[in-house]
Amino acid sequence: MSYTLPLRLKRLRKTSAVRAMLQETHLHAEQFIAPLFITELHDTPQAINSMPGYYQLPLSALEQEIKTLISLGIQSVLLFGLPAEKNACGTQSLNKHGIIQQAIRRIKSIAPTLLVIADVCLCEYTDHGHCGILDGEQIDNDATLKVLAQQAVSFAEAGADWVAPSSMTDGMVLAIREALDKANHTDVAILSYAVKYSSHFYGPFREAALGAPKFGDRKTYQMNPANAAEALREAELDINEGADLLMVKPAMQYLDIIHRIKTRFPEVPLCAYQVSGEYAMLKFAATVGILDETQTMIESLTAIKRAGADLIITYFAKDIAAYLQDRHE
Ligand code: PBG
Repeated sequence: MSYTLPLRLKRLRKTSAVRAMLQETHLHAEQFIAPLFITELHDTPQAINSMPGYYQLPLSALEQEIKTLISLGIQSVLLFGLPAEKNACGTQSLNKHGIIQQAIRRIKSIAPTLLVIADVCLCEYTDHGHCGILDGEQIDNDATLKVLAQQAVSFAEAGADWVAPSSMTDGMVLAIREALDKANHTDVAILSYAVKYSSHFYGPFREAALGAPKFGDRKTYQMNPANAAEALREAELDINEGADLLMVKPAMQYLDIIHRIKTRFPEVPLCAYQVSGEYAMLKFAATVGILDETQTMIESLTAIKRAGADLIITYFAKDIAAYLQDRHE
């Protein structure tokens, strides 16, 4: 295209009406997934200091929270558990009466149509805080696969609609798919944390979910933040193993990765996780008056969608849904 006249693009930015008419990316409440931390350690909600406005919730607080989410138009929650007991193999994650199994049943009795996603990982349940079964100081990949598969089946049995394996164990999607199918849970979908970076932006989450590793770090299983080509291999592998949806995590620092994955695999639904550190940065900056909380929330979520995410997991789920609702009233 060549222009002979001076084209002035500002003409199409002149009024809020024309800007709204031509806006390319839109946010909808049903595309946000709200993470919930469910605790067995307390019987009242516990404020998470590193995540202003966010709480660990006991089972007794679930009803009110779920009703609020539904009234705001949120359709889905992602569950993390804080069990009372931990051990080397994370066996509490397999207990029929474990915190997540109880939470799933409770949520389904309150709101049968709310889509419940259970995070499948071991770090919240192991006393060493790593995402798998250890052999010395290394993760035993294949021993971990067995436990992850059992965990996924146990969550499906309790009523989870989707399971979301987040441990970056090689072969986890296939192992979980086979186990679910064998247990007749062929309709439970897998949202794979296919592209999960070894990120320092998970800092606040580790306080929230009490899942910090007791030694070392997660660099031997989570991805190097410097790599992009490897993300495409991870995504392709998980698609071939049967992942129904893919995830990129974190989100704001990895918009290029979201874009590459969506461009390469446009047919696969893509979810992005705006993680605890991304939330905390904006919240704390807003608290001291440096950033406008609402506007930076909208801008960050819009950027994640513009990059190519279909769904966004975010601690702002309630806030953005409330904003969208007010705007439409
Ligand atoms: C557990 C898990 C983590 C997050 C989600 N699932 C922590 C980690 O890998 O260390 C981080 C989420 C966040 O920071 O909001 N495997």
